[in-house]
Formats: sequence, structure tokens, C-alpha cells
Amino acid sequence: MIVLMNDKLIRREEAKVDIEDRGHQFGDGFYEVMKIYGGKIFTLKEHMDRLERSARELKISLPFSREEIEQKVKELVTENGAEEGAIYLQITRGGSIRQHHFPGAETVPQLTAYPFSCHLPEKEQQEGVETVLTEDIRWKRCDIKSLNLLGNVLAKQEAKEAGKFEAILHRDGIITEGSSTNFYGVKNGAVITHPVSPLILNGITRIKIAELCAANDIVFKEKALTVEELKDLDEAFISSTTSEIIPVIKTGEQVIGNGSPGPVTKTLLQLFKQITP
Ligand code: PDD
Repeated sequence: MIVLMNDKLIRREEAKVDIEDRGHQFGDGFYEVMKIYGGKIFTLKEHMDRLERSARELKISLPFSREEIEQKVKELVTENGAEEGAIYLQITRGGSIRQHHFPGAETVPQLTAYPFSCHLPEKEQQEGVETVLTEDIRWKRCDIKSLNLLGNVLAKQEAKEAGKFEAILHRDGIITEGSSTNFYGVKNGAVITHPVSPLILNGITRIKIAELCAANDIVFKEKALTVEELKDLDEAFISSTTSEIIPVIKTGEQVIGNGSPGPVTKTLLQLFKQITP
């Protein structure tokens, strides 16, 4: 496999990370996961917008220009002959003697990226999934795609141990998102999801779903759902880069709607497939 280390495309075996890299020690960095369809990166612009935003919010300067990063990531896909799959890209604040505060200007942010294979969860997209409902114990800047994912990791593990696909998170009874997905309810034909705020990641798939709703006369309402309201939903679904759209048929003990994928979710999944190559 060819990987990207800063601006160099090298073999994976040659890639070395500093033991004092702040990403390694503090989770001091940010990342993107981008889907490859037919050898092309989907929604590259939106991912780069979010990458720049994470950098700004964490006060880490991008080690290369946006155009250079885009170019290198495209070369990474080509060099690996990746037709389907995804790219993981992360940038850390760099390597420096371990101290909590930011290091000096001599510390250079480190960029790494590599492709990985991932198959669309087609069975789950068709049949829907069950989920656990658990407390959102993450920090209050979930809008930054930071490397610190322990709250997400623990929640996903809880789902896995329960034999469920995803963990839906709530803060004091208000549903925020999934452990690695955005969450949506559907009521009377309207799609309802948590507003963009520091408590959720503004998913690129979420942005596309909002656009699809606008173009197809589906109401897209940004309103926080409560755990209490789950029982009144007609449908629910989750979204992410690697899973696109997946119907949710159960959350915690609550069966959603009639317990099978609903028409609005199915329509959105169909519309989504039309915009992917
Ligand atoms: N996860 N919310 C969280 C907490 C996420 O981690 C993700 C993505 C999303 C959906 O964002 P997007 O549509 O841009 O993929 C929402 C990625 C895929 C991951 O960490 O692997």
C-alpha cells in the first residue's frame, strides 16, 4: 500500500511516526474520512472545508495549502489503484517534548493519509438496524472532527456488546447523534435532526441529505429530538460517509414506527444513490 506522509507518497513499511507526536500522546489533531466511488473522492470540497474548519478551531495550521492536499490525496487514490473504498486522512499538531500546552513554532504539523477498503452495508441499508441508546459523555466541541474519540469508542463498544449496529447518544434526554453517524427522525413526512451546533458533527452526508430534501420537497427540520419523542416517530435513520443512509428500526427498547424501514428513508437512500457515481 502507498501512503501519504506529509507531501511524500511512500510505501506503508517506510512510514514512521514520532513517538512524541502529539496526535499519538494527546489525540491532538483532527481527521477526515472520505469515500471513493469509481476511483474518485466524493464531496472532496466539503471534506476540505471541514478539514480547514477543524484546523482553525484547534489552532493547528495546515502543513500544506488546501490545493496541495487535494492534489496529493487524489494522487494517493490513483497510486493505489483504489476504485472503491475510503481515505483516512489526519493532521496532528506534530512531534515535540511532552507538555500539555502548544509547542513552539519549530513543531511542524504532520499529515498522514491512506486508503482502506470498505463495503457499503447493503443488507443494513435494505433491512434497517437496531441501535442502543446511551448517554453522550463526549466533550462539548463535537463539531470539531478531532482525534479524541473515546466517548464515541465506548459508545460503539456498548452497541457491539449488545449485538447492535450503532449507539444513539443523548444528553440529558436530548438526542444528539450516533457514535459515528448523524441521527434523524421522520414524522408526518418531515425529516427532523439535531441543529448544527457544538454538540454534533456537521456530517457531509447530512449536508447532502439536507440538499436532497430541499430539491425534492421533503421538509428538513433542524430540531433536537428527545428520547421521549422516539415513540412518536414514523421512521428513523442514520447517515455517514461510509454507510450513506441506514434505516433505524429500534433504538434502545423503543421500536421505531412499525419496526421496518419507512418510505421517506427509502426515498432518501434512492436519491442519495443517484448523486454518488
Ligand atoms: N464518522 N457524527 C460522528 C460522531 C461521526 O464520527 C461521523 C462520521 C458522522 C457523519 O459524518 P460524515 O457524513 O461526514 O461521514 C457524524 C466517520 C465516518 C468516522 O469516524 O469513521
